[in-house]
Amino acid sequence: MCGIVGYTGRQAAAAVEPSTRPLEVVMEGLRRLEYRGYDSAGVALVAPGFDQVAWAKKSGKLSNLAAVIDASPLPDATAAIGHTRWATHGGPTDLNAHPHLADDGRLAVIHNGIIENFAELKAELLDQGVTFLSETDTEVAAQLLARNYRSAGNLTEAMRITATMLRGTFTLLAVHTDNPHTVVGARHDSPLVVGIGEGENFLGSDVAAFIAYTKEAMELAQDQIVTITPDSIDIIDFTGARAEGKRYTVDWDANAAEKGGFSSFMDKEIHDQPQAVADTLRGRTDASGHIQLDEIRIDEALLRSVDKIIVIACGTAAYAGQVAKYAIEHWCRIPVEVELAHEFRYRDPIVDAQTLVVAISQSGETMDTLMAVRHAREQGAKVLSIVNAHGSTIPRESDAVLYTHAGPEIAVASTKAFLAQITAAYLLGMYLAQLRGNKFSDEIDALLRELRAIPEKVETVIQRGEYVKATARSMKQATSVLFLGRHVSYPVAMEGALKLKELAYIHAEGFAAGELKHGPIALIDEGQPVFVIVPSPRSRTGLHSKVVSNIQEVRARGAKTFVIAEDGDDTVVPYADEIFWIPQAPTLMQPLLAAIPLQIFAMELATVKGLDVDQPRNLAKSVTVE
Ligand code: G6P
Repeated sequence: MCGIVGYTGRQAAAAVEPSTRPLEVVMEGLRRLEYRGYDSAGVALVAPGFDQVAWAKKSGKLSNLAAVIDASPLPDATAAIGHTRWATHGGPTDLNAHPHLADDGRLAVIHNGIIENFAELKAELLDQGVTFLSETDTEVAAQLLARNYRSAGNLTEAMRITATMLRGTFTLLAVHTDNPHTVVGARHDSPLVVGIGEGENFLGSDVAAFIAYTKEAMELAQDQIVTITPDSIDIIDFTGARAEGKRYTVDWDANAAEKGGFSSFMDKEIHDQPQAVADTLRGRTDASGHIQLDEIRIDEALLRSVDKIIVIACGTAAYAGQVAKYAIEHWCRIPVEVELAHEFRYRDPIVDAQTLVVAISQSGETMDTLMAVRHAREQGAKVLSIVNAHGSTIPRESDAVLYTHAGPEIAVASTKAFLAQITAAYLLGMYLAQLRGNKFSDEIDALLRELRAIPEKVETVIQRGEYVKATARSMKQATSVLFLGRHVSYPVAMEGALKLKELAYIHAEGFAAGELKHGPIALIDEGQPVFVIVPSPRSRTGLHSKVVSNIQEVRARGAKTFVIAEDGDDTVVPYADEIFWIPQAPTLMQPLLAAIPLQIFAMELATVKGLDVDQPRNLAKSVTVE
């Protein structure tokens, strides 16, 4: 939610290397961060001799800003900041776009988050005669920073004082013409990482902002101020005490965040799925084949005594959690609740030291999930997070983390992270079952073999994608699509509906197939498209025949049926208008396959409707406001 980039380089302005020109670095960073928000974009530049910040900003996507800069080029600079916005305070207009200027145009500020006390601060500043151009909370921070700079005479100290005056969540970056080689950042409950270069340094909402230039990064803790120049990185906390950042090397390269010849990031990420599952499984067993989750530093005795698991997550990650519930309860005999993170915290949940809270998040930055993590820890629970983005906030604030190794996920609609999250949660379930003695080692081995067979089967489903796409193209006129699943496929049905809402902007709902007769069946009339995920005929749940009956029930009432069924399950053929076959797999593994035709269907339907597959309207990939 909002992407932020900052850059300062020693060679800059001399234009020794065109690629080290701050404007280009910042635009490249914004291009890679655009998935975080795309309501508007802007840049601000400073260099020695500037009496005002040079800036440009424009509503809409980054390409609009690039066109503005092409038409009126900006001067060379030594330091720059850039912003891509997901609007909160004030509509997505040119005026509300960041940067916001203050101090007679000598100071520029960009911001991610929400400043909750902005109205009172604004009133105070208005009383002092300050005028505002925009409706944003950010401009209040800019004006406040200018005022504090005038009294403190030092940008870092002014930022520190400003940060202590703000309530809410924020990452702020600022440049001032008095400090043409410096970018100052502040972080409170919003993401900010440092990129370490040679004779240049970077700031970004995440490492994608600077991955084209350096893999050396530094984590910042909450409530810190960072000041970068080409040769220094200085960190203090909000009290002014010096602090150290934690250095790490980013383990993916810039190409991993490129489309690599695919028509969209989503298409690429769908194709990344076999690798995402395989990589998430890799290295998680010891020489004798036992599951070894080294990252989990929670005391084993405590994990043995856990009497309840609560999974907290949002969106797709929550559906991954719902899938995992079926497996973990079955394997470990521990009750598992799955709760949307934003509901969890506000309902006075029953959480204590015997509760293991599992937070699932691709970005590791979702504010709703982060707040739920904090709440759970305050109640004495241990929190284990399943996260994809290294160096993000949720793992930092958890007791343990199990990383999914899906690589960067750029498309707003989640695909490979979903499969990787299920895989990681299954590993956790097996680990707990092993630890608590619920499963013998040969049973764990058998489960691991089933999981390890999944990447190849995922590949098969992807290869069959052309047929799914052709079907999607014939559905261009659809205005509503229903999805039915049962047991472990019920959350997959909801995920299928979510994909269609997010991407194709049509009404879609996922139901538990058993619930159909209790209401939703009233929605069915002539031609209503209904997807049905059919359990394996070999499933010991005994649900296969019941779901096949559900297909007949909706078809008898005029529905057009799209059936996802296992290879060889001929019983469904008479009742299906279209069949998307998936390889045979044990019941609990089926979600890892059944989700894929639903992803491909939604992507293709959006494509034929001429919609932006990677950046659907109104959404942002990383939702860092509550
Ligand atoms: C946003 C995205 C979804 C994602 C959800 C949770 O709403 O649009 O695709 O599933 O956030 O994100 P997280 O990063 O916590 O998995």
